[in-house]
Amino acid sequence: MENYRLVPCISAEELEKQVNHLAACINRDYEGKSLVVIGILNGACIFLSDLVRRLSVPVEIDFVRLASYGKGSVTSGEIRITKDVELPVEGRHVLVVEDIVDTGTTLLWFLDYLRRRQPESVRICALVDKSERREVEVPLDYVGIRVDKGFLVGYGLDFAEKHRNLPGIHEVEFLK
Ligand code: IMP
Ligand code: MG
Repeated sequence: MENYRLVPCISAEELEKQVNHLAACINRDYEGKSLVVIGILNGACIFLSDLVRRLSVPVEIDFVRLASYGKGSVTSGEIRITKDVELPVEGRHVLVVEDIVDTGTTLLWFLDYLRRRQPESVRICALVDKSERREVEVPLDYVGIRVDKGFLVGYGLDFAEKHRNLPGIHEVEFLK
């Protein structure tokens, strides 16, 4: 087991402010429309729960779970679905909710998959945009927090499935 400590990075109060702001933008942009919100499991569960409770446009909620082949800390290009979207999305406005975008591989793959079901529109809402390791360009329509690098946990984000329940976001500092 690696030795590490958690360094506070984004407080619960700051996250709440960002989620409120994102929800206000989404409410403005989708006024008069209805939305299918799709959360990417497991990381987006807490963010999505807070976000949708601030939406005033009619929403339907669904989840997808993706698994990436290969181990290590960088997502491999090969992705498969372990829990599919169940709501019909053809002709609907879809908002994909993701916890953190790193290389961008996962999201780009899922966007391509989703577009084959012919939604009216697809936009992405990401809590964290982590730019340093981006490999593919993904259009992020709504972003809560921008960081360059670092491994973050809390508010849904995990390190080996741990720390998702922390109310704020922390950076993992690896100790020698
Ligand atoms: P991507 O395909 O490289 O963009 O990988 C995105 C996925 O990797 C996210 O949905 C997370 O599950 C995971 N991930 C990337 N960076 C972090 C991080 O800093 N903390 C926790 N999970 C991360
Ligand atoms: Mg994830």
